[in-house]
Amino acid sequence: VSDMLIDSFGRKHSYLRISLTERCNLRCQYCMPAEGVELTPSPQLLTHREIIRLSDLFVTSGVEKIRLTGGEPTVRKDIQDICLDLSNIKGLKNLAITTNGITLARKLPLLKQCGVTNLNISLDTLVPSKFEFMTRRKGHHKVIESINAAIDLGYNPVKVNCVVMRGFNDDEMCDFVDLTREKPINVRFIEFMPFDGNVWNVKNSCHEKIPALKRLHDHPTETAKNFQIDGHAGTVSFVTSMTEHFCAGCNRLRLLADGNLKVCLFGPSEVSLRDPLRSGAGDDVLREIIGAAVKRKKAAHAGMFDIAKTANRPMIHIGG
Ligand code: GTP
Ligand code: 5AD
Ligand code: SF4
Repeated sequence: VSDMLIDSFGRKHSYLRISLTERCNLRCQYCMPAEGVELTPSPQLLTHREIIRLSDLFVTSGVEKIRLTGGEPTVRKDIQDICLDLSNIKGLKNLAITTNGITLARKLPLLKQCGVTNLNISLDTLVPSKFEFMTRRKGHHKVIESINAAIDLGYNPVKVNCVVMRGFNDDEMCDFVDLTREKPINVRFIEFMPFDGNVWNVKNSCHEKIPALKRLHDHPTETAKNFQIDGHAGTVSFVTSMTEHFCAGCNRLRLLADGNLKVCLFGPSEVSLRDPLRSGAGDDVLREIIGAAVKRKKAAHAGMFDIAKTANRPMIHIGG
């Protein structure tokens, strides 16, 4: 990793999350208000070319993994072309997508051909009526179809992101774990990142219910703590953003759909890469801007109970 991607705490940023769009075909309650959010006018969003130019710069400097997020990345019409060009960048090892799975099943064969190596699919409930309540849209069966399509196409594991919310789906955790018996999926229970200070420890509460979960190894930069039940095809993980944050091992940077570089999910600090790019900046100038932003990255986000008070973008803009 080049110096540009190393922060003042020595963290090496080899993982870039690119938000392809601010739009989404769902309206998840924990992500955005029912009426949606104000959208950046399209001329101000990064074009396909600009995304590739910046990605190239990041990969040459040491980024090995790119994850496409949104909004919902698959609503962007040129996602396949973007994937094809990204996967052809020399040095990129992983090209991942985090998606709600609504339209994924039919797009997946082409996306796979275009070089997508990893898939994280969001699914918070196994009950269709609860899905409609939480996402304010229909489509539960389509998400299930997409998970199955991803398995059939050989993605292993398919990561299933389940944001756990007390009183909504915490009673379904055992059913989710049960899915790992036959399916090569990694069920990931994600702590709801609240913007109102209301946290609780998902990991412990599930552990009490399912003592058969055995701890597996996890990578130091991973967001998840991994477990498995002996003999199961899949695994279970806990993303404890709130109760046990993973800032010390953070290797992530974010490029938002409007071209802003965001060095921390929770930090408000952003810098535009689009503007210098459009005024003709060369790679050296862009590298300087990126390097300076990375050097300003804080050791950790403010105390977890302060997150709600920190000015930030809505989740739909950041893409997780
Ligand atoms: P893998 O690359 O498969 O490990 O996925 P990931 O966990 O990096 O990304 P994903 O998009 O599946 O996000 C899962 C959850 O982790 C979401 O709730 C994200 O908001 C959260 N998450 C991802 N990156 C960060 C981060 O840097 N900090 C915090 N606090 N949460 C994050
Ligand atoms: N807290 C935790 N996870 C969230 N996600 C969206 N909003 C939140 C939140 N408030 C998850 C989505 C998706 C991933 C990118 O982030 O479910 O799986
Ligand atoms: Fe869309 Fe994901 Fe936000 Fe739900 S959480 S509204 S699927 S971007």
